[in-house]
Amino acid sequence: HRHLLGIKGLSPIDIELLLDRADDAVAISRQSEKKTTSLRGRTQINLFYEASTRTQASFELAGKRLGADVMNMSVASSSVKKGETLIDTAMTLNAMRPDILIIRHASAGAAALLAQKVDCAVVNAGDGAHEHPTQALLDALTIRRALGRIGGLTVAICGDVLHSRVARSNIILLNALGARVRVVAPSTLLPSGIRDMSVEVYNTMKEGLEGADVVMMLRLQRERMAGAFVPSVREYFRYWGLDAEKLKHAKEGALVMHPGPMNRGVEIASEIADGPQSVIQDQVEMGVAVRMAVMEALLDPRRTEAGDAA
Ligand code: CP
Repeated sequence: HRHLLGIKGLSPIDIELLLDRADDAVAISRQSEKKTTSLRGRTQINLFYEASTRTQASFELAGKRLGADVMNMSVASSSVKKGETLIDTAMTLNAMRPDILIIRHASAGAAALLAQKVDCAVVNAGDGAHEHPTQALLDALTIRRALGRIGGLTVAICGDVLHSRVARSNIILLNALGARVRVVAPSTLLPSGIRDMSVEVYNTMKEGLEGADVVMMLRLQRERMAGAFVPSVREYFRYWGLDAEKLKHAKEGALVMHPGPMNRGVEIASEIADGPQSVIQDQVEMGVAVRMAVMEALLDPRRTEAGDAA
């Protein structure tokens, strides 16, 4: 079976084909009749060990729009609470013969581990601080539709890069498509290997945003900070929060993005999140389309050219 475990390993052509297919899915989702038949008879299981609003809801809607039978495993009320391991849970669900399993888990590598054990396609919906490939694809689709291209753009990814699987997947994807990628963060919120990732590193918002086409804010993931470095919210907003003053340094009309969920007044001011440059709601819409594209590419044998992409 084919899987989507990360952006790493996808070629630029693979990525563009998935984005093209997602453009078609946007058109379908904007019709009043949204249901298609390409995954009719297929079974999709969503297995989310971490909280999610956008990713889980959009995978569920994506599956339903493709005609699949979708089951959301409620981890909170499952035998995981009695101590069942990830692998035992996965093997139990595997015995029910799903065609595709969508997994979110706090441990990096959980999706890859599962892919080795089960007899169906696996999609990584976020594994620890490792990857969140469908988020990077939906971000790319949002940028491509708004600005017409990705190659040659300057994208500033700002804030808590250290804990962010979204940042990691985006850095890999944007580099693959020829964007110039900057990371803008305090040194305490940068992973040690960041300079090996083909990015330019900036330690102030003023310098990092200068001339940027896209400003991508990240959530401050305080739940992953084990006491060592938990900045005060007011201080963080003052230096790293995106407000009108800081946004002036970016290119005029630069896109403002945030994967959600947002901490308003921490990494982004409400007036910017809801302002004219924000494409945050477009990102959510593109999320459904990208997830339709990915699942169809993995499961629908009739469209093999894009199917080879994922
Ligand atoms: N962006 C994102 O992954 O959001 P959720 O955690 O709500 O799924």
